[in-house]
Amino acid sequence: MNSSTLILKIKRYNPEKNPSSWEETFEVEVRKGMNLLETLLRIQDEQDPTLSFRYSCRGAVCGSCGMNVNGEPVLACRTPVERLLGKVVLIEPIPFFPVIRDLIVDMSLFFEHYRQIKPYLHGKPTDSDRESLMTETERKEIDPYIQCILCGICFGACPAFGRDAQFLGPAILAKAYRFFADPRDMRSEEILKEVNNQRGVWGCNTVFQCVKVCPKEVPPTHAIVKMRKKILNHRLASFFSRCSSPHNHPSK
Ligand code: FES
Repeated sequence: MNSSTLILKIKRYNPEKNPSSWEETFEVEVRKGMNLLETLLRIQDEQDPTLSFRYSCRGAVCGSCGMNVNGEPVLACRTPVERLLGKVVLIEPIPFFPVIRDLIVDMSLFFEHYRQIKPYLHGKPTDSDRESLMTETERKEIDPYIQCILCGICFGACPAFGRDAQFLGPAILAKAYRFFADPRDMRSEEILKEVNNQRGVWGCNTVFQCVKVCPKEVPPTHAIVKMRKKILNHRLASFFSRCSSPHNHPSK
């Protein structure tokens, strides 16, 4: 089987050895059909067992193998080597997260933001023993957002998170919309209140980078824009209801 040489320049960091990061170049023989994760595993097996990166499922399910490849956040297990041949490939950790070692970043803040939106169904009370059913249209509305695997690579592409780490971030706002739009969840008002600020939907720059890089085709910016529209509609409705209230009209 034909093989080719892939040249990878990998950003390394090991605080026990060196307080600064450095770049190291590896040449590795790859075959058609291999992906970047397999290439890194080959380097680890054959050249440097200390090279550190996360992975688990190898099939774009666990979301743990996110990294930056030539400036774009990707899942390594979903990046075919064919796409990388013929150029020196720069591999770096996902931007905006503290680096623990080599390509491993600290995702604590990501999961802290995730916990803040209480990402589980708060079912509406029901007095029947029947399941709470959804229509096909309602299900279709939340389907794209259910696909999120919490890999966090959208955070690495998000200028708003890069500027302000308190911004809840694309994946988290997409998840908030997933529960907001779920007719079985009783928190629609509460969720809108939670995201109606600069940390939430108003902090987004709507540059759609998160949509572009998501390996599961989740569209966080669409969710953000939909929640903005709902908030504005609520504001308008409450403005008009105040205007039409008899208390606002001086008695003749
Ligand atoms: S190893 Fe699980 S998503 Fe890549």
